[in-house]
Amino acid sequence: MQNAAKNIILTGFMGTGKTTVGKVLAEKLCRDFIDTDHLIEKRQGMTIPEIFATLGEPAFRQMEADIAKELGKRDGLVISTGGRLMLDPDNVAALGANGRIFCLVATPREILSRLQRDKENHRPLLDVPDPHQQIVKLLEERTKGYQQFLKITTDGKHPQDVAKTLLAMCNEPLSNKSINTQ
Ligand code: S3P
Repeated sequence: MQNAAKNIILTGFMGTGKTTVGKVLAEKLCRDFIDTDHLIEKRQGMTIPEIFATLGEPAFRQMEADIAKELGKRDGLVISTGGRLMLDPDNVAALGANGRIFCLVATPREILSRLQRDKENHRPLLDVPDPHQQIVKLLEERTKGYQQFLKITTDGKHPQDVAKTLLAMCNEPLSNKSINTQ
């Protein structure tokens, strides 16, 4: 089995399916799953919007950088990262050193529709009068950064199918548990 212990890291814009797919993938591989946003929220005892509002975005980005360093020292994890975390070269160096990185991709329309359905997680960067336009603008700014990673489109695809594609790309066999439950 190749790279069995390496972390699998999911990056990509907000709403591309990193958390949903990451959980499915972790279950299939019987690995622990970590979502960096949720880890930060748990440790701070605050939601992301509260962190942005009270401590500011730079403080949040520093927390992401600290977590990238910390998780880069662990292995065997499936990690879903906040949409901008892997656009910082220092974070890629820290987290990517011990991981395979995949970038999930979706169209602005699909992203907006998913985020509008996500009632649990609020994205402060999209707190603007025209969130669709903001998504297009941010995607344009970030396209070059996301280009460096292997990409998988998630538009119109079931998370299970995206996870299967990722598994094939990782060249890791399914665990017995997941074969039985499929
Ligand atoms: C952000 C993405 C969010 C979260 C924060 C900022 C971004 O994570 O980290 O709201 O700048 O793209 P998700 O990609 O999980 O939504």
